[in-house]
Amino acid sequence: MACGIIGVTARKSHGASSRIAEIVKKGLEKLEYRGYDSVGVAAIYDNKIVVRKGKGKISEVNRRVKLDKVLGWTVVGHTRWATHGAPSDVNAHPHIDCNGRIAVVHNGIIQNYVELKKELIAKGHRFRSETDTEVLAHLIEEYLKEGNEVFQAFKRALRRVKGSYAFGVIVVDEPDKIFFARRDSPLVIGVGEGMNFIASDIPAFLEHTRNVIIVYDGEVGFITSDSIYLEDESGVPIDVKARIRKIDWTPDMAKKEGYPHFMIKEIHEQPRALRDTFRGLDESVEKASELILEARRVYFVAAGTSYHACLVGDYLLNVLAGIPSLSMISSEYKKYRKSIGEGDVVIAVSQSGETIDTLMAIRVFKENGARVVSISNVVDSAIPRESHYTIYTRAGPEIGVAATKTFTTQLLVLSWLSLAVAEKMGKLGKGEAEKLRRELERTPSLVSDIIARYEGVTKKLGEELVNSSNAFYLGRGIGLPIAMEGALKLKEIAYIHAEAYPAGESKHGPIALVEPGFPVIFLVFEDEWKRHMLGNIEEMKARGAYAIGVIPEESDFIEERLDKAIVIPKLEPIVGTIVYSVPLQLIAYYAAVAKGYDPDKPRNLAKTVTVE
Ligand code: F6R
Repeated sequence: MACGIIGVTARKSHGASSRIAEIVKKGLEKLEYRGYDSVGVAAIYDNKIVVRKGKGKISEVNRRVKLDKVLGWTVVGHTRWATHGAPSDVNAHPHIDCNGRIAVVHNGIIQNYVELKKELIAKGHRFRSETDTEVLAHLIEEYLKEGNEVFQAFKRALRRVKGSYAFGVIVVDEPDKIFFARRDSPLVIGVGEGMNFIASDIPAFLEHTRNVIIVYDGEVGFITSDSIYLEDESGVPIDVKARIRKIDWTPDMAKKEGYPHFMIKEIHEQPRALRDTFRGLDESVEKASELILEARRVYFVAAGTSYHACLVGDYLLNVLAGIPSLSMISSEYKKYRKSIGEGDVVIAVSQSGETIDTLMAIRVFKENGARVVSISNVVDSAIPRESHYTIYTRAGPEIGVAATKTFTTQLLVLSWLSLAVAEKMGKLGKGEAEKLRRELERTPSLVSDIIARYEGVTKKLGEELVNSSNAFYLGRGIGLPIAMEGALKLKEIAYIHAEAYPAGESKHGPIALVEPGFPVIFLVFEDEWKRHMLGNIEEMKARGAYAIGVIPEESDFIEERLDKAIVIPKLEPIVGTIVYSVPLQLIAYYAAVAKGYDPDKPRNLAKTVTVE
């Protein structure tokens, strides 16, 4: 999955030597969404490397080992999501060489670590952990022994490594530098005043600087407190000044602002996120719609929540524009390896822009000759960089592991795009498309209203679900992907087994599971399926189901059959997808809280999945 790395190096005039460790610890807290089974820091002080680390969440480990009290002006840190080696004190990063003069933090996987480890053990190296990462520290040590300069030794070590990485490395011999490299795992540089940063993600240093350099694949370099050196894969130095960009996220965007969790803050932020996403949408959709119109066939590719957004986009292209598009889960792309290519357009949806499965899929399709349009929330992340064209959602940083505001903003972009395509194809009259766009423009206020009206009700519903170990989410048509997203939310943060089904399909097997009290959540849209949904409600009620419905107003004949109803204004289905998603997010959130779980950091999950 993923891990978070950070490195900070500062001028001594920046105050007490323990202040940097404090900055690193705070940065790690911002990266905890990337992994949180163990954590550690390493600092250079008095010609020595000091490592403090351990298994557990940052707050727990800090209580035990005082991560934030380590002395030094050059400090690296790591928050881990285990891949090689169980979560434990020894497997926590940073990892050091035999003599403790080199410390390494790493996000990614070294695929050939077994061979490298054997080779290094044969040369007399002593390993302490079961991790793949530790080999890098010993490789650097080996090349230093041969008399190389540190940067040279680091680059030689990198050449031996196969796999994905974002590395941060400190070496006692050059105590003011942090060496870094990136391949297939995110890495950014923060350009500060007498203090520079490397990190897996921007919020880690947002309190200190908004000047950012995105490190690209194959690039390697080092930072000092006042300089940045970066070179490309072939060793050519890069003009770093030209690469600095100022980002418009404010530090507040990465703070909880009084909410108990990021997830609930991010649910409440959706009106703002939607409003911001409208900015520039007409222009960005224009170019993407041209590419779709020229396409032989259109495919969508994504994982998890982003895949559910794809299903909505795919549905809309089919029903509004008559384009027979298809959606695929990115880790299953190999099915289409030979069939997608020249003339096709692949729409890749990824909030982080770094999901490795989606990245691998677009690489293959691009190589085959397909055009790639991406939709992402992170400017210049890997997927946008490798796409022919990108439309950005402007949700701001999403810290909670469960996607909320990035999902509804993805829906907005996909809806806007489908309308543009349908209009250009003459399948929707100008007036009709315009009317739907005006309706979509109401989503920020509709979402605000729903939250204000239903937060209390959804909290009670969430609390009720705590007693269930299973639930169904049923929908039809465009409601199906929203049901799938609702079920995913409940599973991933409240650990309640939830399944989504096309309502019509539920009687072909799943209904056998229903017994008295079994919760079934029905998504009833104001569309041609409304009456059919009533039939499905009856079927489930007859088996004793506890029927909860999200339904359009003036549907009393449905409401009276339900045990609980969330009544939404009558909406065009294209608008309903966004609005109906919100109560489902709230239900899952409050179920997780009622069960005493931390919805921001669900077990076994990390925000960005950078391992295939
Ligand atoms: C669920 C969730 C994940 C992601 C998936 C893809 O709440 O967040 O299912 O949607 O890992 O991530 P991105 O969109 O970053 O490619």
